[in-house]
Amino acid sequence: MEHLIDIESLTKEDILNIINLAKEFKNGTKKSDVEKKTLALMFYENSTRTRCSFEIAGQKLGMNIINFDAQHSSLSKGESLKDTIENLYFLGVNAVVIRHSLSGIINNVMRLVKYPIKFVNGGDGTHAHPSQALLDFYTMLEKTGSVENKKITIVGDVAHSRVAKSNIALLSKFNADIHLCAPSYLQFENLKAFDVKYHQNVKEAVNNSDVVMVLRVQNERHEKEGYPESSEYKRLYEIDTNLLKEYASKDVILMHPGPANRNIEVSSELLDNTVGKTILEQAQNGVYVRMAILNTLLNKGKEV
Ligand code: CP
Repeated sequence: MEHLIDIESLTKEDILNIINLAKEFKNGTKKSDVEKKTLALMFYENSTRTRCSFEIAGQKLGMNIINFDAQHSSLSKGESLKDTIENLYFLGVNAVVIRHSLSGIINNVMRLVKYPIKFVNGGDGTHAHPSQALLDFYTMLEKTGSVENKKITIVGDVAHSRVAKSNIALLSKFNADIHLCAPSYLQFENLKAFDVKYHQNVKEAVNNSDVVMVLRVQNERHEKEGYPESSEYKRLYEIDTNLLKEYASKDVILMHPGPANRNIEVSSELLDNTVGKTILEQAQNGVYVRMAILNTLLNKGKEV
């Protein structure tokens, strides 16, 4: 594991190593191997959880953190991302976390950069969000022990979701029973490329689910593309307490990568009750999983 670009490039062993290391960081039994290394956070798209948890993860590891200000950088004078990253490397940056609205841009720039800086994908367009899938997996394991043959239902704006793609890639490696639920206009165009079961009916999808992962309705993309109003989505797909009680498994785990649209894809009442608290725990686990990612990438060659 040289970089973290997508889940497909990781082996099961890579994934379990990250999970076990995250567990040790959470328990306080593991110390940082990467103190004084420097991390640059390059966010060209807005973020709360990913950006802040990478920053807190770096701080807990004793790293130096640069919050790269994309809007006020020399990119506005036409400098390329490749030249920017090579300059950061010569300034002493060891790793970059990049979030960008263009799918695949991190793979492209990584191929162009000639120096051994580490790349972490913090979410690129509709392509991948690997650290999110890792923290989601960590949370599922913490709550259930295993995902094998568990019914995991992802409900929402699948079409635009890098989180859904990275979760499907990861959960498939561990033999989860993966179900997707969305109206046809929010479903993957090439559904056959994924080994999942697809539902349009939310009750059927949620029925006996062990995990229900709700995705944000990405209104900013829908307005551009002329999709139906989000009230139409809410009427048919909103996850609420009654729906979970009536159809899901008794101990269902509710997840959402955030940010959530209250009373659109998930009810406000559900978010604020004890079932909804898992979503905050999921965000908190992001700190430990991201500590494990940074420690693994930057401690290459040293005994862990
Ligand atoms: N889940 C997630 O990526 O959240 P942010 O956009 O706030 O980072």
